[in-house]
Amino acid sequence: MELNPALFEFSRAEGSYGRENLTYGSLTTRGMLTMVRSIRSLIPNISLIEGLDLGCGDGELVYHLQRELTGSTWYGVEICGSRVAKQRRPVFIWEGDMLAESLHSYTVLHADNLCLDDAIAEQLESKIACEFKGIYITYRTPTCLSFLKKAVFLQTVPTETTWYTHPIHYYKL
Ligand SMILES: C[S@@+](CC[C@H](N)C(=O)[O-])C[C@H]1O[C@@H](n2cnc3c(N)ncnc32)[C@H](O)[C@@H]1O
Repeated sequence: MELNPALFEFSRAEGSYGRENLTYGSLTTRGMLTMVRSIRSLIPNISLIEGLDLGCGDGELVYHLQRELTGSTWYGVEICGSRVAKQRRPVFIWEGDMLAESLHSYTVLHADNLCLDDAIAEQLESKIACEFKGIYITYRTPTCLSFLKKAVFLQTVPTETTWYTHPIHYYKL
């Protein structure tokens, strides 16, 4: 698993959060609520949501989505054990490689995936095309052909993050 080091350079504004405390790419509260609204509009029956956050960091988003979308269930997988260990709140997150996870049982996938190396991001998209049925939320414009053949583009929603308002894309598989 490789991360793209170029994307880990901090802007001046981000630097002020302190490197140790930054959860890369986190949504602001407003951004998180924008995402909650989008998910609600796409899946009005919240109890059908079994979400997985791919590369969940310390699981903050998992925690907040679970709280805001009462009745949904969220999980998170993160390759970096020390990030997983930072979380003290009751969330279902674990250390693991998202490329090794089975995606069959989920109905929503979230990937804050801009830091992924392009080849890895394409592998993930190809895996999603093979294994997943549901709503895929991604910060990256997908490029994998098997994904693009199978996925239906739903919407792009400008969403506030700790660095700027970023377009987040929603697909249905
Ligand atoms: C942009 S960060 C997002 C983190 C999280 N959303 C947060 O705000 O803390 C992407 C995360 O993906 C994780 N990651 C990268 N490759 C992974 C993989 N193959 N499996 C699981 N996690 C991975 C990184 O360690 C990093 O924490």
